[in-house]
Amino acid sequence: MNYIKIDLDRQLGNVHPHIFGGFTEHLGRCFYGGIYEPGSPLADEQGFRKDVLEALQRLKLSVVRYPGGNFVSGYRWMDGVGPVESRPARLELAWRSVETNRFGTNEFIEFCRKINAEPYFVVNCGDGDMREARDWVEYCNGSQNTALANLRRAHGYDAPHNVKYWSIGNEVDGGWQIGYKTPEEYARAYLEFAKVMKWVDPSIKLFASAVSTWKGEFVERIQLLLDQAHELIDYLSIHWYVGNPENDFAGYMTASELIEQRISAIEGLIRAMRLQRKIRQPIAIAVDEWNVWYRTMGATAAEQNNLEEKYNLEDALVVAMHFNAFIRHARSVKMANLAQIVNVIAPIFTCSDNLFLQTIFHPFEIYRRACGSTALDVHWTGDTFSVNEFSALRTLDVSATLDDRTRTLSVFVVNRSETEAMETVITLDGGQFAGTGCAWIVNGPDIKAENSFADPNRVCTTEAAVTTRATSVNYTFEPHSVTALSFDL
Ligand code: AHR
Repeated sequence: MNYIKIDLDRQLGNVHPHIFGGFTEHLGRCFYGGIYEPGSPLADEQGFRKDVLEALQRLKLSVVRYPGGNFVSGYRWMDGVGPVESRPARLELAWRSVETNRFGTNEFIEFCRKINAEPYFVVNCGDGDMREARDWVEYCNGSQNTALANLRRAHGYDAPHNVKYWSIGNEVDGGWQIGYKTPEEYARAYLEFAKVMKWVDPSIKLFASAVSTWKGEFVERIQLLLDQAHELIDYLSIHWYVGNPENDFAGYMTASELIEQRISAIEGLIRAMRLQRKIRQPIAIAVDEWNVWYRTMGATAAEQNNLEEKYNLEDALVVAMHFNAFIRHARSVKMANLAQIVNVIAPIFTCSDNLFLQTIFHPFEIYRRACGSTALDVHWTGDTFSVNEFSALRTLDVSATLDDRTRTLSVFVVNRSETEAMETVITLDGGQFAGTGCAWIVNGPDIKAENSFADPNRVCTTEAAVTTRATSVNYTFEPHSVTALSFDL
């Protein structure tokens, strides 16, 4: 038997809706042939694929990061504004392709408006300079009579775009990055970029690229960054990709611990540095690229360009465990961006006249739908499993939220057993269940089940009513499933 104990008074902090963010990059078929396909019978008058927009609207992405990724470290934003016919095609070195620049800043802003998401831009801190970065802020957000604000107006956008979120560079700690930077080089560059960008628009929030390669000396890197530039850092950005290359289901199910370790480590570092340096302002964590990615990682150049990973049910469980971790760390994780959102390691997969929803679409959708405004500190016990260096891991992976406005309690559970249903008693302190609850369950025939154009619903979401007593619920979680339970209180 498993026990989940919920006390409404044990609150962890506000869940920021930006943990339901996404990431788009000029890479493979993310934009061209995915989000943006002028001339397609499925496109709207501006060239956006209507079926893709509709699927994205179901995810209710609150924020979308753009334009990369590795791509941004060689990107000139000026190439992507103004009349399309005069935009230059450029050799693109990050993914070894040609970028036509038919899609750029203003198309991205239009895209965000269509899906009701906030834009989040990354500036080129690879082969780009601080002048280019500050000019982009001015082009987007400038309201005075200046050449760059007027250029935006001339391009058809009178009102400023008011882009609030800006990252300085992408994965600057990785040797694969155009313009890799040592900790010293990045701390110095960050400070100077940040200064002028904030001088152009003091209201923007800035993200420092902290860790992507966890094999490096990230502690020292972050220490130096916070030492030298803390006053100008609003978010520390970390990237995190996981996979199951060993085909070891139990081992893969420990992904929860790996993300826990990393978030806790960064939280600790921020805390220690704030104490030591007497840093007043909060510094949040943005997991601004995360996902399952291993099948198409390190493939041949041609395959790698597309990164068209096909996901299965076990990947959906892993995605759900990440949301549990973000909710459990709601106090510090204020943004998370699923990388990516269409075709390229993505929950939505298109062809010229159709799309299907990958397995990982479904946990995202149900967490987004059910997640409340406050994270709760849940206590749970029950069945365990041991694998590799981890012993006695609980088979269920759990998080919970309370919505302060609607007084709805949501409990999110991943059952990591491949074969066993998990009978569970959920008890509630500090309130009472009101009437029948609702369960959304993501599951499929087996852990390797995938969706495809031919069979789009092998893994999907089903809905069921849940009987409650005043302060307890008995519920059995299906093997290899993700469940979001929602209760009115
Ligand atoms: O999302 C794919 C790539 O993963 C991004 O371009 C890069 O930032 C990361 O390594």
